Amino acid sequence: MAKFRLIYRCSECGANEAKWSGRCSSCGAWNALQEEVEDLGDKRVMAPAASGVRSLPAMPIDEVDTSTSTPVPTGISELDRVLGGGLVPGSVTLLGGEPGIGKSTLLLQLLGGHSARTLYVSAEESAQQVRSRAERLHAVRPSLWLVAETSLTAIVEAIDLVKPDLVVIDSIQAISDPDISSAPGSVTQVRDCAHRLVQEAKQRTISIVLVGHVTKEGSLAGPRVLEHVVDTVLSFEGERHHALRLLRAVKHRYGTTNELGLFEMEETGLKPVPDPSRLFLADRRNGVPGSVVLPSLDGQRPLLVEIQALVVSGNVPMPRRVAQGFDQTRLPLLLAVLAQRAGFSFAGADVYVSVVGGVRLNDPGADLAVCLAAASALIQRPLPDGLVVCGEVGLGGELRQVAQTPRRLAEAARLGFDTALVAATANHRVEGMRVKRISSLSEAIELLMPSERMPERVARPNLAAI
Ligand code: TYD
Ligand code: MG
Repeated sequence: MAKFRLIYRCSECGANEAKWSGRCSSCGAWNALQEEVEDLGDKRVMAPAASGVRSLPAMPIDEVDTSTSTPVPTGISELDRVLGGGLVPGSVTLLGGEPGIGKSTLLLQLLGGHSARTLYVSAEESAQQVRSRAERLHAVRPSLWLVAETSLTAIVEAIDLVKPDLVVIDSIQAISDPDISSAPGSVTQVRDCAHRLVQEAKQRTISIVLVGHVTKEGSLAGPRVLEHVVDTVLSFEGERHHALRLLRAVKHRYGTTNELGLFEMEETGLKPVPDPSRLFLADRRNGVPGSVVLPSLDGQRPLLVEIQALVVSGNVPMPRRVAQGFDQTRLPLLLAVLAQRAGFSFAGADVYVSVVGGVRLNDPGADLAVCLAAASALIQRPLPDGLVVCGEVGLGGELRQVAQTPRRLAEAARLGFDTALVAATANHRVEGMRVKRISSLSEAIELLMPSERMPERVARPNLAAI
């Protein structure tokens, strides 16, 4: 006789607890425990499903056949860039992103442009809705099959019938295995369905792409455990009110996770952006105080972005420090360094720093650009037009070099910038670029804003006198 018991499962890490509590004792996530009925008679719930990898006898590594793990191009340039060439037959890819970011759009375009037979499983929208969207995206063609289904059993039957090379399941949280008692979207369901689909992909040597919605915190709703089950995890990001969308690999068993793919959301779907730097700088005005161009790097991809600062003095007791697209806690720290090491005081003034174009920078090289943008905004003096700057600023006001300086500067030179300010240790030559090496923030300011008064030099303590 089947026995059931009530458990509480963490939607972040999948651990279960006998009692509800506000915080998961395994991973520490708050408010993540969800009530679930566990079927004690169901072996699949108790034991993790097999990985789906076909077992072969042991053999020397150079005799292993790699011909089946060659990626097949998807036809979407920016997606292929992130995947390192395309989708590998027999692999399972999870595409995560917030609702409304464009996951269904991207995947419908992928299937519509694919040369092989493909199957789109819509578990959230009706077949009519998907068809009318496909028409808008010019993705309607006879070899794209469509099924609106939420039952895993029926989905596997549809794969049997259609025999596609590529399947999209939209979304993994909306499908469920009727043999499992847990509710759709619960960790057990999501994990079990994903395991089953991994097995199907490996056995049939087809590629499967799963859509996964992420929560506000950025993790996959329903479980981080899913990330271990699949071969590749892609994350689709962007500000909803900006057209720009960024695609990255968070995990990739067939290549690097360093590539960045860029798209723009338009009326007729997502368009690849092959030259993002030009896009980011398109509306830039020269000669404006507080504007600095940073040759940034996202993974391996060089991106030229404009950093803007605005300083509003008003002698307010609690001045505002607002950073957009840049670490909010780093801004007050850099302003303090500017005050102490270069004599620029922002006391009583509101300071706003923004990265133009909806990009989120996670680049230590942005420090120098932020400092110079703030200084330039404070004294209302623009910086030279052809200038780019990058470097990490330490608390002592010293400048440190950042990864891949030549790559960054080559991208800047390609877009017509001719002077770069970098750390003294960044010992690189880049064609078409005058590279000025400096060792500190105050040296940069002396060079760019020469008449601004530096603080009096602090006398060095005399060791002999101590
Ligand atoms: P969608 O792919 O449904 O997002 P997700 O599957 O990640 O939830 O995209 C939804 C948004 O994209 C929607 O707000 C409308 C917009 N959109 C366009 O701007 N152009 C288009 O061609 C399409 C299909 C959608
Ligand atoms: Mg969708």
